Amino acid sequence: MNIGLIGSGGREHALCLKLFQSNSPKKIFCFPGNAGTANIATNIEVDILNFNKVFKLIKFYKIDIVIIGPEEPLVKGLVNFLNKRKVKVFGPNKYASKLEGSKAFMKNLCKANKIPTANFKICSSINHVKDFLKTNNLPIVVKADGLAAGKGVTICKNKRTVLDISDEIFKGKFKSSKKVVLEEFLMGEEASYFLVVDRNSFKFFGSAQDHKRVGEKDRGPNTGGMGAYSPAPIVNKVVENKIIERIVKPTLNALKKKKQSYKGFLYVGLMIKNNDPYLIEYNVRMGDPECQVILPRLKTDFLSIVKNTINDNLKNIKIKWRKQKSMTIVLCSKGYPGKYKKNQKIKNLNNVKLKRNNFIFHAGTKRIQKNIYSMGGRVLNVTSVGNNLLKVRKDIIKILEKINWRAGFFRKDIGWKIIDKNENN
Ligand code: AMP
Ligand code: GLY
Repeated sequence: MNIGLIGSGGREHALCLKLFQSNSPKKIFCFPGNAGTANIATNIEVDILNFNKVFKLIKFYKIDIVIIGPEEPLVKGLVNFLNKRKVKVFGPNKYASKLEGSKAFMKNLCKANKIPTANFKICSSINHVKDFLKTNNLPIVVKADGLAAGKGVTICKNKRTVLDISDEIFKGKFKSSKKVVLEEFLMGEEASYFLVVDRNSFKFFGSAQDHKRVGEKDRGPNTGGMGAYSPAPIVNKVVENKIIERIVKPTLNALKKKKQSYKGFLYVGLMIKNNDPYLIEYNVRMGDPECQVILPRLKTDFLSIVKNTINDNLKNIKIKWRKQKSMTIVLCSKGYPGKYKKNQKIKNLNNVKLKRNNFIFHAGTKRIQKNIYSMGGRVLNVTSVGNNLLKVRKDIIKILEKINWRAGFFRKDIGWKIIDKNENN
């Protein structure tokens, strides 16, 4: 079987490794992949938003199934485009992808189906914003309606900032949409909860906690994610049951009623307060770096999960997980999430020997001859699995110290909220 995997981040390297480890005979093609996937698959250079080009390559390489990693091709309708041309795809269609692609769509769906989420108002003019300010307390969260590459959310502590940020969005700061969604600020602890979904059923696909802020102790600007661990202890059985009954089922049923069933990974971003979950956001894909901590804990053959999802047979398989915990720390280019240098050689990478429970997932890397160079903000993910998160973190930091990449930096405190609370973690 020939598999096409779309994307080039740490998430896609983790997906690629799991596919590679599958027992079924297969060949993997990454569109376009990175220096990590190049070791276990064939990288094909292509702009993944050029759907015609992608389709031609899929035909040329005789690809049987396609797995889409990132949100942009999903939101822009790559699934519909390929399905129309008889290509089998793992991922949600354009309509269902609006759960991530339009915050206004997601919030309206919540309202119509009584799904617990922050109070909100969808605004298309500054007067709408002023109305919301009259009746809501600060802080207020200002969100761009459309995709914004992680830069569309601002938590505002004063009214002036709410007005200024909204104004920028109305003026077209983000090309995806000029609408603004204003939200009440929710207090609590964040967690990410994942599912794999087909037309007939859905299955749990891990939980994790990400660390979005660039600085230690969660300070500084937001990033794509600086590190994560799995599972998320805050998602206990009681909370999980509420997530399923109050959030997941009403959402999937609402899509079904529109004859737009969901298929693929669903990422439920939550705020949990007093054991009650509130939906912050949906993503229509695996998280990055959450994928890099969840997949190493997966025991079931990943390719068989993908095939069963595509064929709507998910209910026939049992998905099993290792009890052990995992963590990943992201090695970033100095300056990220602001300006940073590219093409910096990572000299020591080839000298690092990994034990069975350790992984290095590439993100923004490229290989030139035998050397690896950086080409993005988030460059490598070092992951480890074990019984004790403090020890797991120490193992990861040892590897990062061996890599000793002078052009990079990483957070040494991933997991601080639970590790420091309970040394047995
Ligand atoms: P998003 O891009 O929707 O994931 O939002 C980015 C981050 O902003 C989230 O991970 C939360 O930390 C924070 N956030 C978003 N919406 C809210 C909210 N209504 N209340 C509190 N924090 C929020
Ligand atoms: N780690 C956050 C995301 O993938 O959106």
